[in-house]
Amino acid sequence: MASIKTLVQSQDLKSLPSEFAHFKDTQESIRTGPEVSVPVIDFSLLSSTDPDERAKVILDLGKACEEWGFFLVVNHGIPENLISALFNVCNEFFDMPEKEKLQFENKHPLYPVMVRSGTIDGNDCNQKVKLWRDYLRFFVHPEYHCPTKPKALSDIVLEYSRRTRDLAKKLLGGISQSLGLEEDYIEKAMELDSSTQIFAANYYPPCPQPELAIGIPPHTDPGLLTFLLQNGVEGLEIQNKGKWFQLTGIPGAIFVNTADQLEIMSNGKYKSVWHRAVLNNKKTRMSLVVANGPSPDTIVTPAPQLLRETPAAYGPMKYMEYVQVQRSSRLNQKPTLDQLKLH
Ligand code: OGA
Ligand code: NI
Repeated sequence: MASIKTLVQSQDLKSLPSEFAHFKDTQESIRTGPEVSVPVIDFSLLSSTDPDERAKVILDLGKACEEWGFFLVVNHGIPENLISALFNVCNEFFDMPEKEKLQFENKHPLYPVMVRSGTIDGNDCNQKVKLWRDYLRFFVHPEYHCPTKPKALSDIVLEYSRRTRDLAKKLLGGISQSLGLEEDYIEKAMELDSSTQIFAANYYPPCPQPELAIGIPPHTDPGLLTFLLQNGVEGLEIQNKGKWFQLTGIPGAIFVNTADQLEIMSNGKYKSVWHRAVLNNKKTRMSLVVANGPSPDTIVTPAPQLLRETPAAYGPMKYMEYVQVQRSSRLNQKPTLDQLKLH
């Protein structure tokens, strides 16, 4: 199908085309949650030489993972000009003619490049209701598979992936300690030297009836930690204690959320948080996402040190197998994580 971007540009849409109607009527329509601020973590304190300062940020990190599964990272050291270059070049990608964009689609068995509109993922051609979103998605580690156009895309994403990999490793060091484990526990157990990193750019044009459609329905992410940047337009919502909240960003800060394999390795202490992307009728929203996971071959299990008093709550699964099961499951299917729950 044509991209949502093209659809919006080519027609003066007054109402939502029916294939995007995720909710039937105003009874069911989506209500944007109240705004909430998630905890803010000052990343620079993780390398503080003052042990009290470091202990405090580790405590805060653990609390943020346990109570929210979402936090904002400030002072992360990723240059502002790299981030703005990344937004610019991704915008250029979405501006390219449809045919040119689609030529980067491929069906690599392990590391596909996806250029999609209206769908969640892989083999969901049967998906009934379309999503109001265009996206580009590809693997950046341990193998790098980036489209070759726009010309600057590859270098910029490569640099961003290096920096975010480093950030993920250090945050996971703090998170290991917050669980009472050695700082390098997660790094070693999840074999982060060959970690799986996926980059995605999500493009949500203004929607004529945002309350009836959705950008991404509720889901949890595969992996350990997901990083998200947005172009100053809000739309990310998370579930907390059964209620939906819309997150407010801080310019320059990175949203971080706990994902499925962190829930498994922490034996359920840090839950993978449910989240969704909602729409608006005024502005285009863009989010740039990096999913940081274990190495493709890592068999993810709860950390044995956490099983002294509690039984294992999840069975083992190789990470890449998990990603593939999730990629091929349809919308509204039981989450992959539930399949590994032991009781
Ligand atoms: C995702 C995601 C939310 C957003 O890509 O997994 O949850 O706000 N995106 O784009
Ligand atoms: Ni997500």
